[in-house]
Amino acid sequence: MMTSVRAAILMGCWLISAASVFAASDSPRKVIIDTDPGADDAMAILLALNSPELDVKALTVVAGNVVIEQGVENALKLVSLAGRCDIPIAGGAHQPLAQKLITAEYFHGKNGLGDVELPSPACHADTRFAPDLTIELIHRYPHDITLVPIGPLTNIALALAKDPSIVPLVKEVVLMGGSISGGNATAAAEANIYNDPEAARAIFAAGWPLTMVGLNVTERTLFTDADLNELAKTHGRENNCAVGVLKFMVNLAGKLGGAGAAMHDPLAVGAAIDRSLIATEDMRVEIETRGEFTRGETVASRHNSSDLKVLHGERYIIEGVEAVRPNAHVAVKSDARRFVQLFISRIAGK
Ligand code: RIB
Ligand code: CA
Repeated sequence: MMTSVRAAILMGCWLISAASVFAASDSPRKVIIDTDPGADDAMAILLALNSPELDVKALTVVAGNVVIEQGVENALKLVSLAGRCDIPIAGGAHQPLAQKLITAEYFHGKNGLGDVELPSPACHADTRFAPDLTIELIHRYPHDITLVPIGPLTNIALALAKDPSIVPLVKEVVLMGGSISGGNATAAAEANIYNDPEAARAIFAAGWPLTMVGLNVTERTLFTDADLNELAKTHGRENNCAVGVLKFMVNLAGKLGGAGAAMHDPLAVGAAIDRSLIATEDMRVEIETRGEFTRGETVASRHNSSDLKVLHGERYIIEGVEAVRPNAHVAVKSDARRFVQLFISRIAGK
């Protein structure tokens, strides 16, 4: 029979381990947001800065929606607005790995912030190159950093190539990118992947825990005129900035026939805040880099199997199916209204 002393010791151990689990789950998630700010990026950044569930360790900037200089300036303006000069802002890649840069001022305004003019930044850029800062922080906080890329994946690919040892040290990658329901940049490709397919291929092949928040959910996670009117009822520096940028986004979406502004990047941050905002399915996702019409497509194996073809003389015969190993948790549903209400609740009055 177990002695009472041994039972007490075992109970003590259980209590300590349970406490550590609860304590660990209560501590904010350390995140590095890699961004090409960008109107929706800016909303994602403001959401992250006003969410106690996240500890933003850095904003690393990549060329994409705007050139790198504009992106760094916009990131500095946003953290200055939030009074967060403690957060390092580091500039990274000026162009994709293997193609020319494609900027998207049409969708994000000439300055990348929906043409909203923010005060000159009080914060100053970090002198480190973004991929180097990412590598440094991953080693400083082993198994504790979540990477949240919301732009082209160039910086992450450069960090990966420079130091592959980061893969087992990263807690998770939660990225806005890709789609399993067709593209936006082209019929097949989503913009972040389309703007650096070679980088995306490296990220999806790395083997780290990866969650893909793609157009198939973000295009259904809309910020509407009614949401804008709600957010405009409150005031504050960040609140007013968000109203201005979202007004640009909602108006443009309306001009293009949409029912609201797609909250692409903010939803990826939302998934890092509260995983229950999305539902995922494990899939094998390959990145097309050569297709004439499909370069940049995220080709997802929804059934995680493919035909087993056996050569018999001059023809193949399908003799079964073979398993395909998933490499991504692909978001297939989002609780759009609960997300928008979360967003408004975090920004209102700030
Ligand atoms: O396709 C949407 C993505 O492309 C978002 O990250 C947006 O900011 C643009 O970069
Ligand atoms: Ca973006």
